[in-house]
Amino acid sequence: MNIEDLIRPNIRTMEAYSSARDEFTGEASVYLDANENPYDLPYHRYPDPHQKAIKQKLAKLKNVLPEQIFLGNGSDEPIDLIIRMTCIPGVSNLITLDPTYGMYKVSAAVNDVEVRKAALTPTFGLDQDAIRSATDSNSRLLFLCSPNNPSGNALESDTLLRVIRDFPGLVVLDEAYSDFSDQSLMGQLNEFDHLIILQTFSKAWGMAGLRVGAAYASVYLVNTLDRIKPPYNINQVSQQEVLQALENAGDVTDRIREIISERQRLADNLDKLSLVQKVFPSDANFLLVRFERSGELFRYLMEKGIIVRDRSSQPHCEDCLRITVGTPEENDLLLEALDDFA
Ligand SMILES: Cc1ncc(COP(=O)(O)O)c(C=O)c1O
Repeated sequence: MNIEDLIRPNIRTMEAYSSARDEFTGEASVYLDANENPYDLPYHRYPDPHQKAIKQKLAKLKNVLPEQIFLGNGSDEPIDLIIRMTCIPGVSNLITLDPTYGMYKVSAAVNDVEVRKAALTPTFGLDQDAIRSATDSNSRLLFLCSPNNPSGNALESDTLLRVIRDFPGLVVLDEAYSDFSDQSLMGQLNEFDHLIILQTFSKAWGMAGLRVGAAYASVYLVNTLDRIKPPYNINQVSQQEVLQALENAGDVTDRIREIISERQRLADNLDKLSLVQKVFPSDANFLLVRFERSGELFRYLMEKGIIVRDRSSQPHCEDCLRITVGTPEENDLLLEALDDFA
């Protein structure tokens, strides 16, 4: 497989925008190149378009080259850019494994790209035959999500590797929740030049409001994404905060441990309730739970001010609510409310 052939021809040949900050990168005393406001206001300068300081630190943490990191406005931005980079509107298709994260489908629709659904098995495992039959010569992208949203499980790694090897287009492995599991393919990234791994600062890192996500891939793919992104896609405040968080990466590990232990406690307590039919195994920071009278329960919880996500319309998720693991106090409130539900 020639990776360049998977990039849309217009993107391969286009000239990227060159920002003022691209054309001069040293230190100067007078900046009259970017039409900024000259007065010393907190944010009067454009931020670094290549987020070099963050990439230096993140590269060490993830054991990749800084040039293998693309940073986006949330991981939602690379999801959209990867589709735009590879799929020809009205011609190419991409494959999703349902039930899964909803933005793959939305970004595909925005870009006029057909979505082919190859469902996961009823226990949310990979179905290699379904993926093969959904794939044709116009299939450019396969979206895999592990741990998967909304089911919560990590996809079995040997099958995952087989699916990646087998696919004739680019593979996006969304690891938004991998910090809560003991599985990640980051260590095998360099074995595949057609693999892009997405991670985010929104979940374990607790920075959803700042909108910063990362795509890890070959230098060639990262360069191509860089050429099509808006020049200043990560704002100054977000860059500063993420840099700060990376300096205190140990705090994240502690928080992850607490969330995982609360996940277990919540699952054990839910399992004891008679209205709970099944708590699906989770490697993420949420639980998918099948309830009796799930619709009624969803509305009852909402009236009590407790908002969970109704996933019952998704394939294999009949009567299922998705519950994010909260603080111990929040989880207790949820359990009490469930106890009171008659
Ligand atoms: C699987 C998955 N990927 C990506 C995202 C989006 O993350 P971000 O906040 O980085 O855009 C989410 C958000 O819920 C998600 O569940």
